[in-house]
Amino acid sequence: MDPAARRAPWITFEGGDGVGKTTQARLLEEWLAARGRAVVRTREPGGTEVGERIRELVLHHRGDIAPRAEALLYAADRAHHVATRVLPALARGEVVLQDRYLDSSVAYQGAGRVLGMGEVRDLSLWATGGALPDLTVLLDLDPAAARRRLDADDKPFDRLEAEAAEFHGRVREAFLELAAAEADRFLVVDASEDPERIAERIRARVAPLV
Ligand code: TYD
Repeated sequence: MDPAARRAPWITFEGGDGVGKTTQARLLEEWLAARGRAVVRTREPGGTEVGERIRELVLHHRGDIAPRAEALLYAADRAHHVATRVLPALARGEVVLQDRYLDSSVAYQGAGRVLGMGEVRDLSLWATGGALPDLTVLLDLDPAAARRRLDADDKPFDRLEAEAAEFHGRVREAFLELAAAEADRFLVVDASEDPERIAERIRARVAPLV
């Protein structure tokens, strides 16, 4: 899609598990709705019927999934999601707030699974025809602190959450590297701060876009 055909901003939320992405997406949605903007909240994996089936497989399959197959499943989910949900919403002028996008694949499959960040990024860009968001909010948190939040939640861990501390350390470093490489697209926030303060910082960055 010609970027000019996008009539509203596309904002993605990234970071490790347990950093508060969903809370921040919800707070931003409320703020945008109060300003009269139409908003679509969505997520990867998932966000479409096909995507929810891929999500179930990739997060809850019992047993191994080969790392390249895992990367392809996330890419397949993304290809379908962008084509059928995200780009049509942007063309209608609806703001898209999305929990995770290709930076998650680059960090988790590229760095976490050690498939290579560049290759995984190229795979995602092929899957989506090169579509990139206008803004990516990276919620940065020490994985040990994030793990304590997840433990307090009492929900069973999915396949990725259950990975070892070193895996989550590589994921965090990869996200920070991506943010440094594309400083214009990223807003990095310290996710250990109070959620309302974080929301304020995000609103300040989003205000000129909407
Ligand atoms: P998420 O929806 O954030 O989990 P939850 O709703 O349980 O908090 O993400 C699901 C998991 O999928 C998360 O551990 C990160 C992982 N993931 C990847 O490994 N690669 C990807 O491309 C995406 C989008 C997610």
